[in-house]
Amino acid sequence: MLDAESNKLLTEVGKGTPMGELLRRYWHPIAAVTEFESQDLKPVRLLGEDLVLFRSREGHYGLVQRQCAHRRADLSYGWVDEAGLRCSYHGWAYDVSGACVSQPFEDVTRGERNQRFRDSCRITAYPVREMAGLLFAYLGPLPSPELPRWELFDYRNGFAQIIFAEVPCNWLQAVENDLDPVHFEWLHANWSARQAGRRNFRAPTHLKIDVFEWEFGFGYRRILEDTTEADPVWSQPRLHLMPNIFMPGGEHLEYRVPVDDHRTLSVVWAWEAVPQDREPYVQTRIPHWYAPIQDPATGRWITTHIINQDTVAWVGQGVIADRTAERLASSDVGIVALRRRLRQDLEAVARGQDPSGVVRDPDKARLVRWPDNRRPLHERGLPRAEWLRQLEGRRRRVGIGEDEYFIFYAGQPPEVRRAYEEAMGLAPTPRTQPV
Ligand code: FES
Ligand SMILES: [Fe+2]
Repeated sequence: MLDAESNKLLTEVGKGTPMGELLRRYWHPIAAVTEFESQDLKPVRLLGEDLVLFRSREGHYGLVQRQCAHRRADLSYGWVDEAGLRCSYHGWAYDVSGACVSQPFEDVTRGERNQRFRDSCRITAYPVREMAGLLFAYLGPLPSPELPRWELFDYRNGFAQIIFAEVPCNWLQAVENDLDPVHFEWLHANWSARQAGRRNFRAPTHLKIDVFEWEFGFGYRRILEDTTEADPVWSQPRLHLMPNIFMPGGEHLEYRVPVDDHRTLSVVWAWEAVPQDREPYVQTRIPHWYAPIQDPATGRWITTHIINQDTVAWVGQGVIADRTAERLASSDVGIVALRRRLRQDLEAVARGQDPSGVVRDPDKARLVRWPDNRRPLHERGLPRAEWLRQLEGRRRRVGIGEDEYFIFYAGQPPEVRRAYEEAMGLAPTPRTQPV
């Protein structure tokens, strides 16, 4: 349980708030590179700031304030031309650094004499970097830290996809879910079985959980009724990376990106090794898609897939969970540890230091390895028969249809499914069920 002031301290993300300043010390994914195949600008809201992400004709990305310096028109309704991002109201244009590079009427009528005024009309711009098909933004004080390249981005012979979902609740309840071992038994295993009509199913009970800290965040391991310390649920802990990234197995990352106090962008980077007979496989394009989280017919949340189920838990807690009314129990040891760490990090930022997990050393950022050397296990492709057996097992466990491959979010579009089938060497499957 927290008092109201602490709840505010840990959840508010706006500029100038303590947590907003902490979160501005990290890079956050805001878009996929493939989004810029069909457009050259995109409105973005991040940490309570309205921005425009655009790609210049030279192929550089800019992230600038939404409002034009002139009379504050919305630059996301402008366009990109050879000068940069051009405002549709009176044609002023900005380059990726935020410098005003064109003021058509003033440039024509005042010529050289306009330069000083034009130079003074710079707008706020933030750095953007590309990695693993994602575009990351940094909104904090310069110099920016390194953007860590997680080991997963370096895996070979696999198919990656990027999934976004806009979730109408605060970021912290989504992150607290990442440090919550026991929910797997209920929110995923038992609930999936109930939804599939298996009324007598009961998932193995958790007998023991262990939460630990590592250099970049936390991890936890579990013993269930039917597992021992030799099983992966103990030997390959689920990992959390400060401040808002979850790595459940070894094959996907889940970012909980704070849009503002009331909304979170869920960004999933999911990877899967191809069967052995498809090796060597080199992916040339990482597709992205936006996952629906609400059933338009009923207005209810979609509950069929893993992260959809997590989403139901997050939004069910309210737009900002009222932690003054919660009753923490012994299963919440990870949540207590996370809040303690966030408070320590808030103090570090207030002292002018970096919070935990921020990397300044470029050599270290080049490849951040998981603490337990799990790479070979995940990167190794399976013989096709075994791969198909595991695919079937996943489908059965979650209760998704035979025309689906992706267990984490409902609504994978046909073109992404087709790209996956091609990568895995599967015949195209006709879609039989609507989402
Ligand atoms: S408001 Fe943008 S050019 Fe005038
Ligand atoms: Fe979950």
